[in-house]
Formats: sequence, structure tokens, C-alpha cells
Amino acid sequence: MADRFDVLRRRLTDGQVRVCVVGQGYVGLSLAAAAAADGMTVTGIDIDRHRVAALQDGRNVVPGVDDGMFAMAVDSGRLAFGTEFDSVTEADVVVICVPTPITDHRPDLTAVESAGREVGSRLRRGRMVILESTTYPGTTEQVLRPLLESGGLRAGRDFLLAFSPERIDPGNTKYGLRNTPRVVGGTDPASTEAATLFYSQLVDDVYPLSSCRAAELAKLLENTFRMVNIALVNELAMQCHEQGIDVWEVIRAASTKPFGFMPFYPGPGVGGHCIPLDPTYLAWQSRRDTGRRFRLVELAQDINAEMPDYVTRRIVDALGARGVPLRDAHVLALGVTYKPNVGDLRESAAVNTLAQLTRRGVRVSFHDPYVDRLDSHGLRLRRTRLTTKAIAAADAVVVLTPHDRYDFDRVLKHARLVFDARDALDGTANGTVVKL
Ligand SMILES: NC(=O)c1ccc[n+]([C@@H]2O[C@H](COP(=O)([O-])OP(=O)(O)OC[C@H]3O[C@@H](n4cnc5c(N)ncnc54)[C@H](O)[C@@H]3O)[C@@H](O)[C@H]2O)c1
Repeated sequence: MADRFDVLRRRLTDGQVRVCVVGQGYVGLSLAAAAAADGMTVTGIDIDRHRVAALQDGRNVVPGVDDGMFAMAVDSGRLAFGTEFDSVTEADVVVICVPTPITDHRPDLTAVESAGREVGSRLRRGRMVILESTTYPGTTEQVLRPLLESGGLRAGRDFLLAFSPERIDPGNTKYGLRNTPRVVGGTDPASTEAATLFYSQLVDDVYPLSSCRAAELAKLLENTFRMVNIALVNELAMQCHEQGIDVWEVIRAASTKPFGFMPFYPGPGVGGHCIPLDPTYLAWQSRRDTGRRFRLVELAQDINAEMPDYVTRRIVDALGARGVPLRDAHVLALGVTYKPNVGDLRESAAVNTLAQLTRRGVRVSFHDPYVDRLDSHGLRLRRTRLTTKAIAAADAVVVLTPHDRYDFDRVLKHARLVFDARDALDGTANGTVVKL
């Protein structure tokens, strides 16, 4: 039966679809570039005029966004950028990819609300809006929907509305936008179906769900699962140290089980802007809506938050065991980003660890192939050149983020002491290496 969404469905399948992506960060620009490269006509909207000016200039200024995909999209002439929301009136599909940070220990949906208001005042009948920002269950229905309906249109009747979380893993060379399955949940079956059709052009596998809330919660489960399991091995690492057991050996052994176990690894804590933050969305919403604490999340957050301090103490102990007084100690840290092979410093537990070492009077320097300088947590440091002399001069070389580019054999050969927080070096050769 024909309805007012027929044109949308037809455009989604015949490649004529016009898309607006609101928020041109890592998530939004990656999607906009992929959609344009795939033949869709795309406008990327962002309130950051410097970012938009650079993108209009053909410069990919968003770290992590695939240069090849960006160039292909720009060269196709199908990708434009702007700070104004006017193009929403022409778009068949509007995808919202704005930040959802934590402010004052609670979810901050200011950007979603502001984008919702802008889109709502320009939305036309027969179109579709999709939210991709990570958020708690109920956001699409209870927060975004009323803003989109403020102009008089109704979701389901006049426009379609869905949630589809971005799952992209920065730095992952195996899984990108196309081969990472998508989950999609709409406010009604027609929305789920149309959103599934949209993503099917860009992603190999799309997995439709019964509601927006289920899709919102699926994303929080994925990241909470990771955060809780990291807390488990972090606590295990502390217990193992007390008992003289090598935690890395234990994890390697457990990993030989071909079913029912998935390895996670300890370290100075969790970082990035997803894994430490998203569980707070879950815990906050569950406390608000059910009155129940999400105890496991809170406990895991406490354990992970303890890790920079714990790693600092272990480094200090290792220096003390070699008779190096703290006030004279010089530590060279390798890797300061939140995870290997990316340049992202957000919520980096490695930086937190360096700050704690400094507070204890240790002189710190750092090397990271992706970071020129550190200017946060009271640290003001320029990257040190990773020469043999620099390695040999440090009282301890501390491996915090093991980027693939590091030659750890060279580190092992020249360092006086290595504190390896990430199991980057083989064994505990000649007593030089102390492992977390
Ligand atoms: N980066 C990731 O790896 C990742 C992965 C999965 C999910 N997410 C989620 O996706 C969302 C976006 O993340 P990101 O990493 O792209 O964020 P980001 O901070 O890199 O970029 C967000 C962009 O949105 C713009 N913006 C802010 N408010 C706006 C508004 N009202 N209108 C238009 N533009 C606005 C900002 O200027 C910025 O350019 C977040 O909810 C995040 O949690 C991120």
C-alpha cells in the first residue's frame, strides 16, 4: 500500500537519497564520507565554523577519519559542508551524530537537544531522522522525538524516527564502517524498516530490533561489558601481584579455552571517550528510572579509577627496590594515548599516571609517536626523542601504551629498568623488566 514514505523508500534503493549528517566529528564525518563515496548526496553540518571551513577546503581535520574515503567523497562532488541547518529541508534522511558527554557526573544531552530543535524546525513530511549518538534508553523517544515534533509533525505519521548506535573502533584496521554489523531500532516498524534500508547501502549486515530503547541499550551493554571486564582483570592483576602470580600468564592460559572465555588485559585504567563514559549513562538512567543502583558498574568504575594510582605505586616500588630515591628519579614513559596506535588523549589513564608520578616528585618525560606535547593534568611536556641515549639515561622506562611502532627489543637492550604495564615485552629478561 502506497503511503507518504514511498518516495523515501524509492530514493533509498535507487541511490537518489539526500542525506544530512549533523555533527562532523569522528562518527559523523566517517558516515558522511562513506555515504557520499557510496553515491548519496550528503551535507555535513557542524556548529564549529573552523572545522567546517577546513572541511570545505578539502582538508580532513578529524583524526581517525579515513583519508582515502574522505578524498573519494570530496572528489565525487557529492559531499558538502555547512554551519547552517538549511539543507535539512531538502534531506530525505537526517542523521544526528553529536557529542553526548558527561557533565557534573551526569549525561549531558545539550547537543542532542540543540540539534533536535534545529532539525525539528525544518523537518518536512515523508523524511527520516536517525540518532547515532551514544545515549541511555529512552533518549530518542522521550528527548529527541518531542523536539522533532515541535513544528507540528508526528513521528510515525509524518516522519520516521530511529536509533542506530555507531560501533566504530578507532584504529581498528580489520573492522570499519562497512564490515561492522549495525543494529537499528525504530519508533515503529516502518521506521525500523526504512533505517535498515538506509544502512544496508553502507554496511554489510544490519540487525533490526523491536525498539529504539533496545538499540540504545545494546550499545551501552557493549561498552559496559568491556569496562566491567577490564575492571575484573585490573583487580586480578592487583591480587596476582600480592600472591606472586604472573597475571599475564594466567590470562594467556585462560585464553586457550576455545569457548566461554574472552581475554581482557589490565593496564593503568580505561580511557577514551566511550568506555569510561558510556556506563555512567547506563547507571544514571537505571537509578533515575528504576531507583536501583547498577552496582556492578559502580564497583567496576571504582576499580578502574584506582589503577593510575596503583600503577604509580608499583613504579615507585620498582625504583625503590633498585635504590633510586624518588627525588632523583627520572622516568621515561612510552605511549600516552588512551590506547595503542591512535593519537587520542581523551581520558587517557596513561596521562593520569604520569601526573601522579610527577606529584610524587618523580621527573617524567615521554615519547609517543602520535603526540607532540602534553598540556593537561598539570603536565607541560614536549615529546622526548626516543634515542638509545634517552632510553639508557632513564632510571625507569615505563610502557603505558604499547604502540605497534615501538621496537621493544631496543628498549630492553638499553634500559636500566622497564616497568611494563601492558605486557609489551617478552618475559622478565635478566631482571630488567617488572610487569604489572
Ligand atoms: N568516536 C568514537 O569512537 C565513537 C564510537 C561510537 C560512538 N560514538 C558516539 O558518537 C557521538 C559522536 O562522537 P564523535 O566522536 O564523533 O564526537 P566528536 O566530539 O568528535 O564530534 C562531534 C561534532 O559535533 C559537533 N557538534 C556539537 N554540537 C552540535 C550541534 N548542536 N549541531 C551540530 N554539530 C554539533 C561538534 O562541533 C563536533 O565537531 C557521541 O555520542 C559518541 O559517544 C563515538
